[in-house]
Amino acid sequence: MMSEYSFTIHEIKGYISSLYLIETAMGFLLLDGGCASDFARLKNYLERNGRRIEDIKLIVVTHMHPDHAGTVRHFKKENIPVASTEGAYRWYRGVGGFIQHKIDTFLAWFSAKRKSQNFESVWYSRVFTPDYVLKDGDTLPIFPDWRILFTPGHTLYDISLFNEKEGVLYPADLVLRLEDKFVLPFPVLFPSRMIASLEKIKKLTFKTVLLAHGGIIGKDRVDEFKDVLERLIKELKMGWRPRFKFLYPFCLFVHDKWR
Ligand SMILES: [Fe+2]
Repeated sequence: MMSEYSFTIHEIKGYISSLYLIETAMGFLLLDGGCASDFARLKNYLERNGRRIEDIKLIVVTHMHPDHAGTVRHFKKENIPVASTEGAYRWYRGVGGFIQHKIDTFLAWFSAKRKSQNFESVWYSRVFTPDYVLKDGDTLPIFPDWRILFTPGHTLYDISLFNEKEGVLYPADLVLRLEDKFVLPFPVLFPSRMIASLEKIKKLTFKTVLLAHGGIIGKDRVDEFKDVLERLIKELKMGWRPRFKFLYPFCLFVHDKWR
């Protein structure tokens, strides 16, 4: 828990990713919903702290992967509004999307299993209707000090969130920290867009980075993180070799890859 800002940041370790609850006087903002099974985790966390799931006033879904959009249907059931981009919630549309959704769900489950996690269901629905459709540069409803930045590359519609006043950045799956090494996500389906997104992020003035995979980067390591952005841009420009290259053919079913 970090309280040095005009809000408090709660990091909840989900089944696969970290979930960030931003506590303000208006209630909680949730940065990505995690896997389907993380809904119970969130609920428990809030109840342990004397709060309720209804205290979450908005959830933002940065992209449609199972460890980010998995809890949407639970929030919908509780009438808690969900914000996302138009592209994101249509990412898995059509026959290709249907197939890709099954593959991505399996890969998420498999990667959790590999980290010797217990079995938890990551099953979730591949499309939904957001209550708020976000555009590049928009501020969030209810929490207007957070701005949306389109940062595609991992998928075609990823977004990052930036609180300029406090210098807090949530880049979702733009950069991951695995075993203390900063790396690009799997997959990077649109490398040239990824370069532009990393360059966009690099220009911002931030002092804290909340990683969906890798926890919070505080003041002590934020300069290192900026060097990492530079390094990743360079790697992408100079014939970068993706991790798990053999799995890439299984990531090409989505309609938007071939538009
Ligand atoms: Fe992802």
